[in-house]
Amino acid sequence: MTTRAEGELLTRVGPGTPMGKMLREYWIPAALSSELTANGPPIRLMLLGEQLIAFRDGKGRVGVLDHRCPHRCASLFFGKNESEGLRCAYHGWKFDVAGNCLDMPNVPKHQGFPNRITAKAYPAVERYGLIWTYMGERKEMPPLPMFEAVMIEDERERNQFMVQRECNYLQALEGDIDTSHLGFLHMGGVEAEDAEPGNLGVYALSNRAPEYHVADTDWGTMYSAYRPGAPGEIYWRFAHFMFPFWTIPPDGHFRDHVIARAWVPMDDNHTMFVHVAWKKNAPGLRRMKDGSPIVGMAPVLPSMYVPNDSSWFGRWRLTASKDNDYLMNRDLQMRNVSYTGIEGVHVQDQAITESMGSIVDHGLENLAISDLMISRTRRRMLRALQAHGEGIVPPGVDNPETYQGARGGDFASSASLDWLRAYSDEMRASSNPTGALRIAAE
Ligand code: FES
Ligand SMILES: [Fe+2]
Repeated sequence: MTTRAEGELLTRVGPGTPMGKMLREYWIPAALSSELTANGPPIRLMLLGEQLIAFRDGKGRVGVLDHRCPHRCASLFFGKNESEGLRCAYHGWKFDVAGNCLDMPNVPKHQGFPNRITAKAYPAVERYGLIWTYMGERKEMPPLPMFEAVMIEDERERNQFMVQRECNYLQALEGDIDTSHLGFLHMGGVEAEDAEPGNLGVYALSNRAPEYHVADTDWGTMYSAYRPGAPGEIYWRFAHFMFPFWTIPPDGHFRDHVIARAWVPMDDNHTMFVHVAWKKNAPGLRRMKDGSPIVGMAPVLPSMYVPNDSSWFGRWRLTASKDNDYLMNRDLQMRNVSYTGIEGVHVQDQAITESMGSIVDHGLENLAISDLMISRTRRRMLRALQAHGEGIVPPGVDNPETYQGARGGDFASSASLDWLRAYSDEMRASSNPTGALRIAAE
């Protein structure tokens, strides 16, 4: 179980909090590259409870600054993006992407002191379609993480999008490592015999109460949910938690399932979900035996969004929200065509995790064996927090190659194999489109 005090430690992310300090050790995916155009308008960026401004200067460089101008704290959001920097709309002071003050035009030249002024700036880099920022204290930046899904160079092979969620990052993230809800929330309306024959995912419907292996790893934690498959075989579903807020879910065929999902805290009550995947990913079970799509299992589509606006929480929101009960259709639910009557796997997860309240009251939970991965992950995070308080660098910061040992998805193997042996055998047989996958040591 998790106490309320532990829940506080895990969920509070603002400056000065233990988790806030640990998260600031890591590079954070802050925006899609496509959100910023050269000399275009700056965007408001809420990250770890801090109000920031992101912009791209005329040379294509990206800046992430505290939104308050270091002169008299006017918001730089209203600034003018000029070729070498952002000019504050109040008195015209101008700052480059590193926060250097380039101009102080409201002060006589001989009385100016631009060299002594810097806007608070966080280093920002761009790689393969994502803008990353580092909000930590090191002068020398740690290396960028190396999940295989963030190493996809070819733009045509990348599937990247964001969705905002109105709840704490931890409960949002835990949805990805809470595997037994698949057979209820998402597929409770589908009988195994009605689903696509031959798809391994059918075993997750014929047995909706899997057993688990769970382990700590160098990059976080991993589990396999397992149940019997064909005679003599086990059907495995492997997934991972990767420090500090990443997951690899099991819902796809292991050998081609190149994916990583970040649950980035905007503040304690809002999360930006960042989906990064290979376009050739093979998704899990999605069809009925007659070939029609399983009701309610649509992916996130561009048509599901409301337009972004420039407010602090104005990016990547869905039309289906808590204000309209996620467009739930009670009739579909009553007839058990869909367990929830809510359309879209992501929207179903969103509805459920937001329904827990902004931050789950951990004192009210009653965890079961099906929550083994969740409790193991919380313990792993709490231990890392404690160690971090004692000066120990958290997992993955200085050794980002450790993430290359993580792959998730489903497959079947001989029932005689140990779970970790089955994992490394399957890794060996997997596609490796980025060259980043590393076979786990046996
Ligand atoms: S407040 Fe920004 S230039 Fe004065
Ligand atoms: Fe889910």
